[in-house]
Amino acid sequence: MAIVAPSLLAANFLRLEDECKMVDESEGDWFHLDIMDGRFVPNISFGPMIVEFVRKTTKKPCDVHLMILDPGHYAEELKNAGADHLSVHFEACPHLHRNIEQIKSLGMKAGVAINPHTLVAELSDVLYEIDIVCMMSVNPGFGGQKFIPHTLEKIKQLRKMIDEKGLKVQIEIDGGVTLKNAASIMEAGADVLVAGNAVFKSADPKATIHQLKNS
Ligand code: DX5
Ligand code: ZN
Repeated sequence: MAIVAPSLLAANFLRLEDECKMVDESEGDWFHLDIMDGRFVPNISFGPMIVEFVRKTTKKPCDVHLMILDPGHYAEELKNAGADHLSVHFEACPHLHRNIEQIKSLGMKAGVAINPHTLVAELSDVLYEIDIVCMMSVNPGFGGQKFIPHTLEKIKQLRKMIDEKGLKVQIEIDGGVTLKNAASIMEAGADVLVAGNAVFKSADPKATIHQLKNS
């Protein structure tokens, strides 16, 4: 069964508390929170303050996806705000190993996110250190984009690499996940489905989450 992580980027922020309650009451597993700095990605979203608000609405894990430069500068603040998982971008971290060590020493699960152009092979050594790979299936920065089909091939490669090494790293797929493509993403070997628009713009978000879980 899929782990489902609704992405709040697609929520109605005028009703953020209700949106959080909906996810909390649903079969959704994690809250996916996208932090963007307008530098690593062309968009700006929100910061630790929103993580803190969301944290008050739920006991479910807050899965924070940092699309920012210099993520180490914010790790402690995000831990204090309530982040349980912290993913940093491979492409934004010249000292990735140091970032991972910092996240783990703060008591969070460590994730590494990779852009669509980044080779799965780049993760070979770092896989031993991390809990989650957040594989981008769109170019990061915006919700509502179309799933890049080649991602399925990358998921298979990563699944094989993780299994061959006997590791428990979770594969999280982020971007353009829908009820139509969720089954093929799971078949390729994913563990976690992030879904923004597919959930929050659907007529019945809880039912959509239920369907995603069973894809
Ligand atoms: C994009 C973000 C995603 C986004 C997904 O940069 O990392 O988490 O919210 O949204 P959808 O599911 O609408 O593509
Ligand atoms: Zn994300």
